[in-house]
Amino acid sequence: MKGIVLAGGLGTRLFPLTKVTNKHLLPVYNKPMIYYPIQTLIDAGIEDILIVTGGNSAGDFLRLLGNGKEFGLSHLSFVYQEGEGGIAAALSLAERFCDNDKMVVILGDNIVEKSIKKEVEIYQKQEKGARILLKEVENPGRFGVAEIKNGKIIRIVEKPKVPPSNLAVTGIYMYDSQVFDIIRTLKPSERGELEITDVNNRYLEMGQLTYGILDGWWTDAGTFDSLLKANILVAEKEKMKK
Ligand code: DAU
Repeated sequence: MKGIVLAGGLGTRLFPLTKVTNKHLLPVYNKPMIYYPIQTLIDAGIEDILIVTGGNSAGDFLRLLGNGKEFGLSHLSFVYQEGEGGIAAALSLAERFCDNDKMVVILGDNIVEKSIKKEVEIYQKQEKGARILLKEVENPGRFGVAEIKNGKIIRIVEKPKVPPSNLAVTGIYMYDSQVFDIIRTLKPSERGELEITDVNNRYLEMGQLTYGILDGWWTDAGTFDSLLKANILVAEKEKMKK
């Protein structure tokens, strides 16, 4: 199983914090943001990790992370995304790295409270297709939202004006290597990006999309409010450890 952290994009929603640096290098309590998704993969037992980065200060990721020694890794892989073509465009750069293996993809601004190991183990047993993790939120319109009927996802809508449920699709996705063929068929959305929601809907149409509900709190950190929330949640978690 391969792990991929997507840390490209320009982080325009956090401007001017991201005017000279990359969003994923900004602090979340006592560590740079990117440390959290990397640790989430490692805690799930995944050690073969690719970082997809781009935009401002891309070279700083190498300076910061090196070969991942601080995380107990002997090796980390990096790839560069030109421009801001979307999450699915960033993921397409991982095809060679994945080499037909299954993968866990995590967005570089997604932070979770608890381990996702059990979910990854469930997916490892899934013969083919994809698995996504959902979480109940108060403001679903900011995310991809899943509509569920009789315990099954019937559709996923990206940032709906009228959300069909309060179940957000978190930025943790498990895919098999079919994902790269799916991405090749995508067309840019209205915001000019290749959308990960279109990828998930394609798996849904193929009858190959399963889901779990994420345990513990989850937040992204891509807006001023969610970045503040991430800082507070992580600070509380760290203090509880003491
Ligand atoms: O956080 C979960 C949400 O993330 C999902 O519910 C949505 O379905 C999904 O589209 C995404 O929504 P956002 O609009 O919040 O995504 P954003 O553009 O902020 O990108 C999130 C991360 O994806 C970002 O921190 C880095 C990576 N990314 C994004 C873009 C646009 C890239 O690596 N390259 C890119 O070109």
